[in-house]
Order: sequence, then structure tokens, then C-alpha cells
Amino acid sequence: MDRMEAFIRGMPKTDLHMHLEGSLEPEVLIRLGERNKRRLRWKTAQELRAAYEFQDLQSFLDLYYEGCQVLVEEADFYEMTRAYLRAAHAENVIRAEVFLGPQSFTDKGVAIAAVLDSTLEAMDDARAEDGISCGLIVSAQRHRTEQDALDLLEQVRPWFGRILGIGMGGAEKGNPPSKFRRFFRACRREGLRITIHAGEEGPASYVREAVELLGVDRVDHGVACVDDPELMREMAELDIPLTVCPISNLRLKGVPSLSAHPLKKLMDAGLHVTVNSDDPSYFRGYVSDNLVECQRALGLTAEEIVSLVRNGFIAAFIAPAERRAALARLDTYVSGFDWGR
Ligand code: HPA
Ligand code: ZN
Repeated sequence: MDRMEAFIRGMPKTDLHMHLEGSLEPEVLIRLGERNKRRLRWKTAQELRAAYEFQDLQSFLDLYYEGCQVLVEEADFYEMTRAYLRAAHAENVIRAEVFLGPQSFTDKGVAIAAVLDSTLEAMDDARAEDGISCGLIVSAQRHRTEQDALDLLEQVRPWFGRILGIGMGGAEKGNPPSKFRRFFRACRREGLRITIHAGEEGPASYVREAVELLGVDRVDHGVACVDDPELMREMAELDIPLTVCPISNLRLKGVPSLSAHPLKKLMDAGLHVTVNSDDPSYFRGYVSDNLVECQRALGLTAEEIVSLVRNGFIAAFIAPAERRAALARLDTYVSGFDWGR
């Protein structure tokens, strides 16, 4: 490992855009499938891993939702969450904000309490055992109706005090943010933070809708705004964070290579860019891998890497005192790092 890679891997960092369901490693997925007697198209972890070749977002989502059927019992959600937070802690993530989409499970008869309580319990244990700071963002699926999302919001009501907010993922094209205007207004009325995936596969106009129509706190992905210079200026002016996931964009063929990724263009335009993992198992990359690979492909300087990681702490849904402490910890790490020169 070279010094730059060691620097990146050792940095205290955030992961603000990841889906717990996308953290299930193939071995775990196969084991849970057997435990819950779910019939899968793959017999071994090796076979499953070989299926992780995607053409676009939809081809990924098809596999991802198929994988979700192995999550049935409380213990499954607990194990998945605890395993991800352990991996995140091991790569020096000190703040993780994770998505979970209950509709995949409640649809199949799993009680919402089984999903949320076990996930939150794993987060409590990770905090207590590893000292990792973490929070849950409940995610709604945009290929369903707005009424489905509103129903989910009602189901989640008893947990409002224990979650960070509400997000939205799923098939983007044809399901613009404007489809969920009433839903996000209802979330806001409840005092919940809101984020939405926009401009991952959809156009820059979806990012504009997310910001102007919904008034989101962060945009997940948001990379398409590189196509609209006026929007980029606005985003920079409003300082709305983008949770970019470069390896995800590469695997879903949003970019032909990481060297063609707009990450640096967005940074240079003054946007609040953060780097995150999205679905680390399916895309073969945790947040440190994303930073290391972007550094190499785009020739980012150590200062630029530090700025991306700082942006993560600034964009995190944490109290000012925790933010100050995290930024101070980052500064201490950076100034004390031995570059061997
Ligand atoms: N995009 C949209 N929905 C998702 C994703 C994504 O990258 N990952 C999990 N659900
Ligand atoms: Zn995502």
C-alpha cells in the first residue's frame, strides 16, 4: 500500500449514502437464504458474485430486490446491520448514515417493527461496542405510488424520534421528484430531514426538482447536475451536499471509467461534494475504496481528499458539538500523518 492509500484508509471519515440491503456480502446472502428456506437462483456465493455485473440501474435493482427476500427475521436485519457497521468501523468510518427500505419486507408480510427495531438495536450495539456514530434514514421506493410512500410514513410514525429522516431510491427514470411532492411535504411537516436520489440516471432537471420543489437537505448522487451549469452555480450557492458514489456510477455504467467521472468537475465548481459507498457489496467498494480509486483515476491531491472527507462531516446529520469534535479529529490525523518524506 502506498502512502496516499494508507493516508486515505486511515482517515476518520463518513459514509452518508449506503443501503444496508446493499451491504449483504454474497456468503451472508446465501446463508440467510438457506436459513429462511428461500429459493434463490444461485446455489453458492461464487455463483452469486459472478452475477454482480450490471448494465444499468434497473438491472442492479432487479438483483438487489431479489436478494432482499432472504431478510425475514429480526435476527437477519440485526446481523446485516451489525456486520456493515463493523466493516465501516474497520475502515475508520466514524459516522455512518444508512438507508433501509422497509417496503421490500412489509410487502412480504414482515412486520415494520421487526425491521426497524432490530436494525436500530444493531446500531445501538455498534455505538456501544465500537464507538461508531450512526443513524438510520428510512427509504421509500419511487417506482411505487405516492400513496404507498405516504402509507410508509404512517407506519414509521412511532419511530420518528429514533430516525434521522426519510430518503428515496429505486428506479429513477420516469419517477421524478415531482411525483412525490405531497409526500415530502408531509415528511417536512413532521420535522423529518429529507433526501432523495436524483441525477443518478435521471437528468439534471430531476436534481433541480429535488432542490427547488422538494427542498431536500441533501441530494443523493446528483452527478447529472454537471450537465446544467446554471444549476451547478445554484447548488454551489445554496451549499446543498451531494452524496456521490463513484464506484456505483462506474458499475451501473453511468460513466465508462472513473477517470471520466464528474467528481472533480463538481468540486471545482464549488459544490458540496461527499464520497460514499452506496451498495458496497454489490459494487465491490466501501467508502475508502471509493476515495482511493478516485484519487488515482482523477489525480486528486491530499488536500482535495481532505476536503471531500471534511464535506462529509459538514453534511452529516449530527449536532454541532459532534461535528466540531469530528473535524478536530480529522485535523489531528492530517497534521500527524507521516508521509515518509
Ligand atoms: N439508486 C437507486 N436506488 C437504490 C440504489 C441506487 O444506487 N441503491 C439501492 N437502491
Ligand atoms: Zn443509493
